[in-house]
Amino acid sequence: MGRDHLLSLRPWESPETTSWQRLPMNAVDRRSGALSLDGSWHFQLLPSPTGASGEWTLADVPGVWTMQSPHDLPQYTNVQMPFGDVPPHTPAANPTGVYERSVDIPAEWAGRRIVLQVGAAESVLLVHVNGRQVGISKDSHLAAEFDLTAVVRPGDPATVRFTVVKWSDASHIEDQDQWWHAGITRSVLLYTTDPLHLADVTVRAPRDGRLRVDCTVRDTAGPLPEGWYVTAALDGQLLSQDTEFDRLNAEDMRVSDFYGEARLRTVVRDVRPWTAETPELYELAVRLHRSDGSIADSSHHRVGFRDVEIVGRDLLVNGERVFIRGANRHDFHPLTGRTVTADDMRADLVVLKRFGFNAVRTSHYPNDPTLYDLADELGLYVVDEANIESHDHAHEIADDPRYLPAFVDRVSRMVLRDKNHPSIIVWSLGNESDYGANHDAAAGWVRRHDPTRPIQYEGAAKIDWTDEKLASDIACPMYAPIEDCVAHALSGRQTKPLIQCEYSHAMGNSNGTLADTWAAIESTPGLQGGFIWEFWDHGILQRVNDGRPAGRGGVGLYDNGVTAPGHRWAYGGDFGEAIHDGAFIADGVVFPDRTPKPVMYEHREIAGPVRLTYDEGVLRIHNRQHFRGLEWLAAEWLLVGADGTTLRAPASLPEVEPGGSTQVPLPFPPPEPSAGETWLTLRVTTADDEAWAPLGTEVCVPQVRLAAAATDTPPEPATGPAVTLDADALLVHPLLTSAPRLSLWRAPTDNDELGGMAARWHDWGLDALVRKVVDVREEGSRVVVLSEYATGAGPVRHEQVFTPVTGGIRVEESAELPAGLDDAARVGTVFETVPGLDVLDWYGQGPWESYPDRSTGAPVGHHSLPVDELFTPYLRPQESGGRHGVRRFTLSAPDATGLAVELGAPGQVSVNRYRAEDLAAATHHDELVPRPGCVVHLDAAHRGLGTASCGPDTSAGYLVAPGTHRWEWTLRVL
Ligand code: GAL
Ligand code: MG
Repeated sequence: MGRDHLLSLRPWESPETTSWQRLPMNAVDRRSGALSLDGSWHFQLLPSPTGASGEWTLADVPGVWTMQSPHDLPQYTNVQMPFGDVPPHTPAANPTGVYERSVDIPAEWAGRRIVLQVGAAESVLLVHVNGRQVGISKDSHLAAEFDLTAVVRPGDPATVRFTVVKWSDASHIEDQDQWWHAGITRSVLLYTTDPLHLADVTVRAPRDGRLRVDCTVRDTAGPLPEGWYVTAALDGQLLSQDTEFDRLNAEDMRVSDFYGEARLRTVVRDVRPWTAETPELYELAVRLHRSDGSIADSSHHRVGFRDVEIVGRDLLVNGERVFIRGANRHDFHPLTGRTVTADDMRADLVVLKRFGFNAVRTSHYPNDPTLYDLADELGLYVVDEANIESHDHAHEIADDPRYLPAFVDRVSRMVLRDKNHPSIIVWSLGNESDYGANHDAAAGWVRRHDPTRPIQYEGAAKIDWTDEKLASDIACPMYAPIEDCVAHALSGRQTKPLIQCEYSHAMGNSNGTLADTWAAIESTPGLQGGFIWEFWDHGILQRVNDGRPAGRGGVGLYDNGVTAPGHRWAYGGDFGEAIHDGAFIADGVVFPDRTPKPVMYEHREIAGPVRLTYDEGVLRIHNRQHFRGLEWLAAEWLLVGADGTTLRAPASLPEVEPGGSTQVPLPFPPPEPSAGETWLTLRVTTADDEAWAPLGTEVCVPQVRLAAAATDTPPEPATGPAVTLDADALLVHPLLTSAPRLSLWRAPTDNDELGGMAARWHDWGLDALVRKVVDVREEGSRVVVLSEYATGAGPVRHEQVFTPVTGGIRVEESAELPAGLDDAARVGTVFETVPGLDVLDWYGQGPWESYPDRSTGAPVGHHSLPVDELFTPYLRPQESGGRHGVRRFTLSAPDATGLAVELGAPGQVSVNRYRAEDLAAATHHDELVPRPGCVVHLDAAHRGLGTASCGPDTSAGYLVAPGTHRWEWTLRVL
């Protein structure tokens, strides 16, 4: 190859160059019947685009080289760019991958138009075929197509070469908060068409059934042949030509022989509308005919009839103000980085559906086309987001005319590709790129091209939630305190629907106050929901010995969020990056292997289609859906008694219209007053196989309390073992290896760290309390121990009263927190047990982890789990595994020996293998060494989790208040 003109253009530092020789984007899906070029390619990594050639090795396509090559590893940054060069410049060290392979062009392709499609390349793609320069493309998340008809010869092999440059002017507008990678992330293929072909098909399918299909036709061989025409059928029903459209075209002098347009119409009677709850799809077949009737080209589409509109301050789908229970989803895989298969995407969406989500924002770029097919099919509303984020240089770029073509290019190509998907209800102009004329230009293009959907852009709505001129039809803030949202909705000034593009940051043990947030949304007209940040914890599976990504070979080296020995979930900094943002990349509702985190159960309940209420003896079943009844669900009643019993009875769900409720009889006789606390749970499951869940999948478990606990348990006689204290005045007990002590601290969660609480606790000394025994006295059989702890906020007085009771010891405690100690992590008791007590049985909320401000989805019941399964392995070790509202528990060995604890009042309990300081000292799980016994915390008060790593902290009611806390518990030997 002689002098390379593509390289000499230096397109990686030319923002005006968005592409060269790339074909226009369109909505005709060419994947089926194409020749796949996926597989192993020859590969070499150059130090820069103009650097000297190196060694040929092999690389997987699709695949990023950052997960395959030892010479250029993943790097994680949030806002900051990984290099200091200002836009549009790039660093001199600019890894560049050269991919090459030979492909046999089938002889039968002679006379056909041959097109190369590169699914996605990051961040600049230069294409050569047979040594000839073919084209350039940017936008790492949309396909690029090039016409190869003139460069290859059917029957001969062709050499395809991709030069992929990692850093470019485009990197400055691809500064999303995720790992930096480079390579080819989506499939590569060749397809052919007749020279006379469908260049685009646009489907409009409103709910009234008036289907319109617009086709664009071209002939690469020259002017369009006489007599071509287009036909189409929807589920067998033929569409008719729009004769008025044809007549106007015929009279229009501007319509040339080179550009063909056709419009087809029909009216579909008794439409089965598409919604996320009822994803009804129809099959549309479009055919392009030559004058003799033969078929030159065809295109298939799945059509969903639905309307999206904004009326007043409501976003309506088919006329209904739907709640948007969304999640932000990145393309992520722990073994490939960014390359995801159709099965991966389906599994993601299935998890979302199973946990009550009905919407996805494709944060922060267009996804693989398959994702939208799946959203259409499974039923999810989609906010489709363009690949524009200039976070670090947001202000400079939004108005920089050099980047104007890129903004319009990225937004328009997304719309051109995705416009026919019923699942897409909103276009998003991108993320965190300030707001400028470049956005308005892109918005203007969309408004003209697709007037059927609203536009959103957080940066435009941020300036003013009410200004209708700005390029966002939706007020879509991120992490706005719910009180601000409510105040806005009540202010009388609201003009746009308020749907948060990001809320409830799921970093580590998080998502406190989700239920309160939703209670406010549901009760405040004008508020419609939002998208949780985010779906994935982006931990890359890493080998600890050599620090490299495990890559595709890592299959089977993780399970249930836990990695195999010698491996760990890597986050920022783990690949030796000098510039990085640490564990901020691990902020999803699922682990890197897609295991749901406990918050998913909370979300599932909040979003559940069925709710129960029990008011003054009246039991009601509510249908919380927008469009359908409860026919698709089955259910079972559970009566949970404080006596340890759970009675079950089949439930038949009544007919309830969407949004309505029906009174139902109590399925069990009302509990006797003496029965104590009684709970009624409705376990709701799928009645049939659904596309996203087999029959019998749990959908939600709403619960109501039928009777409260009896008060006043009479004090028990002191007939138990005598209380023994050691020299330090600590309780000695055969099952305990460390005596019960006061605890005011927890291993900081990510929210505690980033919200500043952990630093305050450290300043107060809560992480290293030193006990000073002030007094020990015996009062009959009771022993009273009074201690004092010095803290930076003043002394904490702690009293323990030990009383022997039948079979055990009652411990009554009180702690007086000084006024300045107004935000402790917890107030409670911690002790450790002998080894061998490996199963926890408890009566309280569960079975999954719950905390005071995240406990709506954990019903009260009689639960049982092995101790090792109680712990939640958040990527950066932190407080985890707590259970809220625990009334009593046993911790036992296989031979049923062990201990039983009864709490005076429901408390927050955690049982695991680690002390708080063990967790706080570790950065990854592979550093943790489980203790042989159990570390048990019984908390009278435990701070809520909040979301302060990015967004509001927990609300005041979930803080640990200063003043006197009293609690009591009884310890018995089983
Ligand atoms: C937002 C941003 C996301 C992510 C999140 C924090 O500001 O849009 O991409 O960075 O915060 O995890
Ligand atoms: Mg950002």
